[in-house]
Amino acid sequence: MSVEQELIERALECAAEDDPQLNARIYQNFYDAMPDAEALMSHVDDGVRGKMMSEIYRLLLTEGVAASDGDYLAFETKTHANSYFVQPEMYWGFSAAFLKTLRLSAARVWSPVVEQAVSQRLDAMTAAIHRAITQNGGATALEIRMDQN
Ligand code: HEM
Repeated sequence: MSVEQELIERALECAAEDDPQLNARIYQNFYDAMPDAEALMSHVDDGVRGKMMSEIYRLLLTEGVAASDGDYLAFETKTHANSYFVQPEMYWGFSAAFLKTLRLSAARVWSPVVEQAVSQRLDAMTAAIHRAITQNGGATALEIRMDQN
């Protein structure tokens, strides 16, 4: 197992052990940063929120997620865009809220190397999501920003 993988697993395990409210806190930080995302999820029950979080943990624990889960991400981002109206930039907002939450919830094992490993992995997942959105024919947040300038 790579050192990066070990650090990520230890941080996620620590957060899960030390913070019984971990998922609720991630969603709350996400909603505080992105009220539009909260509005999109207002009808979603705890079961579906839990299912979404377990998929996100699975993706985060996967090394080389773009290669292994490209088809899954293409499917999920298409459904998220067309049926749930999720905007591309919301994935970066989610990623930032996740990191912010984990820093405190996994404080017992947190350090600069853990920060680096977790943020690199979140970036890899979010970049893979944006590649999937582009492949679906949608514009990424970066392209939208470039169009506006
Ligand atoms: C970070 C990557 C994400 C993954 C892997 C993911 C995955 C999932 C999964 C597995 C579900 C359960 C239903 C289904 O299979 O479609 C779901 C539901 C949902 N997700 Fe996500 N999600 C992600 C990010 C987001 C973001 C950023 C938003 C923004 C608000 C969002 C909004 C929703 C909504 C509204 C539903 C409920 C749909 C419904 O049942 O009406 N997701 N997500």
